[in-house]
Amino acid sequence: MASASDRFAGKRAVVTGAGSGIGRATATRLAREGARVALIARGRERLEAIAAEIDPAAGAIVLPADCADEVSIAAAIDQAAAAFGGLDIVVSNAGIELLDEDDRVDRLELAVWQRLLRNNLDGQFLTCKHGIRHLLAAGGGAVVCVGSNTGYLGMATNEPAYSASKGGVFAMMRVMAIDYARENIRVNMVMPGFIDTPMNEPVMRDPNELRYWSDQIPIGRAGSADECAAAILWLASDEASYCVGTALVVDGGQAAI
Ligand SMILES: NC(=O)c1ccc[n+]([C@@H]2O[C@H](COP(=O)([O-])OP(=O)(O)OC[C@H]3O[C@@H](n4cnc5c(N)ncnc54)[C@H](O)[C@@H]3O)[C@@H](O)[C@H]2O)c1
Repeated sequence: MASASDRFAGKRAVVTGAGSGIGRATATRLAREGARVALIARGRERLEAIAAEIDPAAGAIVLPADCADEVSIAAAIDQAAAAFGGLDIVVSNAGIELLDEDDRVDRLELAVWQRLLRNNLDGQFLTCKHGIRHLLAAGGGAVVCVGSNTGYLGMATNEPAYSASKGGVFAMMRVMAIDYARENIRVNMVMPGFIDTPMNEPVMRDPNELRYWSDQIPIGRAGSADECAAAILWLASDEASYCVGTALVVDGGQAAI
């Protein structure tokens, strides 16, 4: 898409959920624009394949970890900071959706609710907790959380647990934004809508489902991982220097309905 630039030259970043979709696009673009990037997700093999696509000169590193496990994510973030000599950017993106198990609350199993909250909300809390410690040590930086438009607009019907997990990220992001604003750390978020990533693979390959969801979007189509990554990079960049606590909706107009 965009040509390479040096917008992030000298910046040191961690991206969670870098093994796929939006995280992968974000890590790749950050590296292309000059950042040293630590790719974090659960599977080493996927991460290594993605790192291999990045120019070796960019110095990307692979750190398999589970964001919802404090020992695991703290170790990965600390290793990234040790390898790069500090951190400037934390992209807290990892998340799951459980399309077949999340359900109207009268039918929703507590275990499914807890799994989504643990993975998506605990995971982002722990990523921010350990990432921000390094930003404080560096004297500032940027955090970009990835939520969802269903975290504040109720877009994903029959997915109350996923939506609650993203609503939690939205609330946490706004308070973090205020808590760290005077310490030169900008905290913001991107709220994607319906994006063509492996998370939505069952919908993308079913023409009827795809038409049903696309028809509800003013722009008439799913977004791409790269379109979300562009918004994440902008919020992480110095160009967004006056954005604090912003939730940037990237949803083809759904939120405007
Ligand atoms: N695709 C969409 O339509 C959409 C819409 C709104 C929000 N989002 C959000 O965007 C983010 C990225 O989603 P995507 O569409 O790229 O999905 P994806 O499934 O393609 O990628 C998600 C990545 O996160 C990783 N991950 C999940 N939980 C993890 C954990 N506990 N520890 C480490 N890694 C973990 C997965 O391994 C994978 O690499 C998620 O937070 C998702 O909720 C996606």
